[in-house]
Amino acid sequence: MKNPPVLIKGDELFLNEIAEDHYETSRDLSKYLLMHYGSPEDVFESPHHPLAFAHGYPERISRILQSVALDKGVTVSRALDVGCSVGGVAHALSRWVDTLVCGVDASARSIDVATTLTQNEGGTFGVVQQGPYSRYVSVRVSGPESGPEVGFEVGDACDLHYEEQFDAVILSNVLDRVAHPGECLRQFEADDGPLRRGGLLLIACPWSWYPDYSRPEEWFGSARDEITSEDDLKTRMSGGFTMVHESDQPAVLRQNPREYDYFNAHVTVWEKL
Ligand SMILES: C[S@@+](CC[C@H](N)C(=O)[O-])C[C@H]1O[C@@H](n2cnc3c(N)ncnc32)[C@H](O)[C@@H]1O
Repeated sequence: MKNPPVLIKGDELFLNEIAEDHYETSRDLSKYLLMHYGSPEDVFESPHHPLAFAHGYPERISRILQSVALDKGVTVSRALDVGCSVGGVAHALSRWVDTLVCGVDASARSIDVATTLTQNEGGTFGVVQQGPYSRYVSVRVSGPESGPEVGFEVGDACDLHYEEQFDAVILSNVLDRVAHPGECLRQFEADDGPLRRGGLLLIACPWSWYPDYSRPEEWFGSARDEITSEDDLKTRMSGGFTMVHESDQPAVLRQNPREYDYFNAHVTVWEKL
């Protein structure tokens, strides 16, 4: 076991950081580190917190994909996590994927944190308590000897290029955060796109559209025709994929011990025809 490096210092959490990207500040990274790697005790102050059922989102998403892959007889040697943030879903995938798990994100700082944590098999980070007070949380991840290669890189979810295709791709809470969600999705239908024929695409999204991220004309669904994002997704996918799983998956991001952001992601898994 290596000495865990400090990924985010406690006093950095209260800086007035100017970041163009919503996912680049110390506070945001700390929230995602806690959501992706924290134990229930790390996230909640009390053992019977009412949101405790929403804990463990990355592991649940990974297990859904694993169970569909087993059910459909799809061998997953190479998996890609698009919009991976600090890498918790990628690490959950590494517990069962055979050869390679690759995480890609537009945020260079998220990728740096994910890489440092992976190379050191863990890390320590500050989380907000109250006002200027923070506490530290330490987490561990498995080393390279116990599974597939796990790597992270900076890249654009709407413009993915890989020499070799993947057997499975995860788009978790990212379609409503990219500038061109339709374009992002179309890449996976293409014969020479990042996903191979017969491969699996897991899409998770709370469909929380905001003009800060994409123009309303690009959002899935239509107010005029009363089409929901869920139905629009199914129409967009119907040409090249079969839907093999649909569920709602809760998740929680901690702001401080008295404030949590809860969301319920719509999760579908698609087999590429
Ligand atoms: C809501 S977070 C989701 C993080 C993680 N997938 C999860 O489910 O917890 C959205 C992530 O997408 C990333 N992102 C936004 N636009 C992107 C783009 N064009 N290309 C790659 N990543 C992007 C952000 O940096 C952020 O890490």
